[in-house]
Amino acid sequence: MAEYHEAPADATAGRKLLNWIDNRFPLSKLYNEHLAEYYAPKNFNFWYVFGSLALFVLVIQIVTGIFLTMNYKPDAGMAFASVEYIMRDVPGGWIIRYMHSTGASAFFIVVYLHMFRGLLYGSYRKPRELVWIFGCGIFLCMMAEAFMGYLLPWGQMSYWGAQVIVNLFSAVPFIGPDLALLIRGDYVIGDATLNRFFSFHVIAVPLVLLGLVVAHIIALHEVGSNNPDGIEIKAKKDAKGVPLDGIPFHPFYTVHDIYAVSVFLMIYSAVLFFAPTGGGYFLEFNNFIEANPLKTPLHIAPVWYFTPYYSMLRATTDVMVNVLSGIVGIGAVLGIVRGGFGAKGKLALAVGAIVAVALLKTFDAKFWGVVVMGGAVIVLFFLPWLDRSLAKSIRYRPGWHRIVYGVFVAFFLVLGYLGTQPPSVTSNYISQLGTLVYFGFFLLMPWWSRLGTFKPVPDRVIFAAH
Ligand code: HEM
Repeated sequence: MAEYHEAPADATAGRKLLNWIDNRFPLSKLYNEHLAEYYAPKNFNFWYVFGSLALFVLVIQIVTGIFLTMNYKPDAGMAFASVEYIMRDVPGGWIIRYMHSTGASAFFIVVYLHMFRGLLYGSYRKPRELVWIFGCGIFLCMMAEAFMGYLLPWGQMSYWGAQVIVNLFSAVPFIGPDLALLIRGDYVIGDATLNRFFSFHVIAVPLVLLGLVVAHIIALHEVGSNNPDGIEIKAKKDAKGVPLDGIPFHPFYTVHDIYAVSVFLMIYSAVLFFAPTGGGYFLEFNNFIEANPLKTPLHIAPVWYFTPYYSMLRATTDVMVNVLSGIVGIGAVLGIVRGGFGAKGKLALAVGAIVAVALLKTFDAKFWGVVVMGGAVIVLFFLPWLDRSLAKSIRYRPGWHRIVYGVFVAFFLVLGYLGTQPPSVTSNYISQLGTLVYFGFFLLMPWWSRLGTFKPVPDRVIFAAH
């Protein structure tokens, strides 16, 4: 047990109260460790606001979600009407609903930018691997949360989108159909599905998400923040043990983040008041029509934040599986001829390639589509070990690395756009190329990230006023 500290006799009432609390709960200790004495690098730029913004949007989603739940009915016969009731009759209901639905898109925009910052500055590299892995867990939870939330208004897109995605699970060999049945709780999407998605969306996934966010921040504060120069500021400390390039998070970055929250609120409110459905991208127009199991919409597409992965799923046709088999074969031959492996290594490579091609040809392309779609997210978890670059930050990497990043981002955006559109022959070719670029970027990273001439990384951070 910690020692009991008496407050000085002449202390103010406020000071005495704090002292009373501190003797029972580490309030000042937590405040100092995470805010006033948390030394963050002094060269943060605007990319560093997205973590706090993500926290802010998370709070918006939780608070608006609580209010929506007060009037929403998780019943296939009443759900759609209860959302209309919220929109038309509940005082302020329309804005709470739009804050939540637009908030979901805002959450993904902020988090995608937050992740991209990590990519730019190598923030996932040692010692921040766990910060990144918890982040990837958060991203998975966000996807599950958004997918299940989208069923709740029980519109046409809710219904048919869920139908398409849950059916994908039935492509899993052997257990697929049972798995899909388990998820739906019925042979078609129905009341049982709505009820279980509701309970997962409202309590189960948010609990895990919150736990992961806490773990994410605890891990970050244990190792300290990275920065745009990718230098460890803890390596150079003054006599008191304070990093020479560090400044207290509070007040310096609290002000920085409050400014970002204000700018965010302006953009968010503009969308809320003038384009709450985001032109059909944040809330699809078909979702204003009640679910009808007898009428399939002409074009079913998920919301924009899922569409890059959806494009990859659609791109995995039989032809694509042949291309993948060819790539595995060429990779194995190159590895055997030029990889510098011993006899055992070469044999393992050859056997591995034969097994991989046999598996690719045995199972349906639909199954591999699911694997590709899931793999596109799972590969992110391995990023800390895929990147072998000599410098963390893009600033000190060879200039052409920026082009590689640029091509990757461009294809990711194109995949996202194509996923919102009905399929066509040309768009499918582009999606196939995009899928190869996406996986090539990550899986070939151990090779390309080491290549080129790196610039010297400075000893101390370079502070540029901003
Ligand atoms: C609910 C979602 C999330 C919240 C609330 C959140 C919160 C935060 C906060 C407050 C910070 C410190 C401030 C900053 O560096 O921006 C941070 C840092 C970080 N986050 Fe997240 N995060 C979320 C999702 C993610 C995801 C999905 C990833 C990656 C997959 C990720 C990876 C990172 C990394 C690598 C850092 C350290 C950055 C550095 O020091 O350069 N986060 N996060």
